[in-house]
Amino acid sequence: MSGNLKKYYLFFTFLLVSFLFFKCKSSKNTLTLTFDKINYPIDNQFNEQKIELGEKLFFDKRLSLDETVSCATCHKPGLAFTDGLAVSDGVLGRKTTRNSSSILNAAFLPKVMFDGEVATLEMQAIVPIQEHTEMAMKMKDLIEKLRKIPEYQDAAKKIFNRDFDPFVLTRSIAAYERTLISDNSNFDKYYYQKRKFALSKNARAGFKVFSEKLYCTKCHSLPYFTTFKIENNGYTELNSEDLGRFRIHSDSNDIGKFKVPSLRNVSATAPYMHDGRFETLSEVIDFYANGGRNVYNQSEIIKKFTLTKKEKSQLIEFLENLEDF
Ligand code: HEC
Ligand code: HEC
Repeated sequence: MSGNLKKYYLFFTFLLVSFLFFKCKSSKNTLTLTFDKINYPIDNQFNEQKIELGEKLFFDKRLSLDETVSCATCHKPGLAFTDGLAVSDGVLGRKTTRNSSSILNAAFLPKVMFDGEVATLEMQAIVPIQEHTEMAMKMKDLIEKLRKIPEYQDAAKKIFNRDFDPFVLTRSIAAYERTLISDNSNFDKYYYQKRKFALSKNARAGFKVFSEKLYCTKCHSLPYFTTFKIENNGYTELNSEDLGRFRIHSDSNDIGKFKVPSLRNVSATAPYMHDGRFETLSEVIDFYANGGRNVYNQSEIIKKFTLTKKEKSQLIEFLENLEDF
């Protein structure tokens, strides 16, 4: 190559590399490895400072009545943003009625919470703050209190150009939640990134049991491992105190229906189901193998099946490889 040509060659390579670098950087906020891009609400676009503020609020116990509980008390990063309890501990020794959900990939939820009724993460954030069994704060008192904390009031002015208020609070917390993406498990590496050896032979066989021999993907479908629909998986008996979505509209079609939870990170989210009564994945599989509890309104998909001991352990090994947090 002549000297001049070499210079041009180097120059264009440099341009190409910088172009790719900046392209990746600028789209980092919307691209994920496995999922569709994140859709940000019009009134809550991506902004790094907002996320930082949201993260502080998420971990701040001053948001609760007796200052003992933050969002992270029940959504612990080390437990895939759950708390390892059947039901959670709120302020003043109060207990929630339901098992805390992982909020990983909450960015993609079309509807939030087990009843599938809350429309956005922004709206959801208000619920635990005011809920008697969780943080038990009056919004008006909380805003007054947080405005007096210079760090929060200054950030509100700087980022939102307004006083610290419920808008600032909910937009920041939701912005932080939208950064909690989990899509790089061994399964993702194997299935989406085509790295053949990322999953063991047993886990690969377990995926076949899950998706071909059994019916699990009818509700726990790829890539989110949930359809996000509200279903009755045969768990809730008619005499239960918590009949799921029924409590919202008292419509008998809703009896025993709960939002299908994602199975991503399921190895870390025990105990299982909305009341946390199953401690292990093995118990959950036995429950499905029995064809659920044959309850009122049970989905027709849930039917009895038999697995060999080996198939069951392969299925569990597969589920354990959905972990990435
Ligand atoms: C005392 C425990 C507790 C605290 C504190 C708490 N949560 Fe939760 N969270 C839960 C429980 C229990 C559920 C499931 C309730 C339901 O769906 O009915 C839940 C559900 C959620 C969900 C819905 C996830 C899904 O898959 O639909 C989101 C999002 C969430 N919490 C965010 C937060 C945020 C943000 C905070 C702080 C402002 C917070 N939580 C504080 C216990 C708690
Ligand atoms: C008809 C839809 C449906 C089908 C099919 C289905 N599930 Fe579920 N699954 C649900 C619902 C709904 C829940 C939550 C129920 C509750 O909390 O009461 C759930 C909960 C779970 C949980 C507990 C998750 C948690 O974090 O608490 C596991 C594990 C699970 N299912 C595994 C499976 C497996 C394995 C199969 C296949 C044998 C399967 N599911 C088939 C709807 C379904």
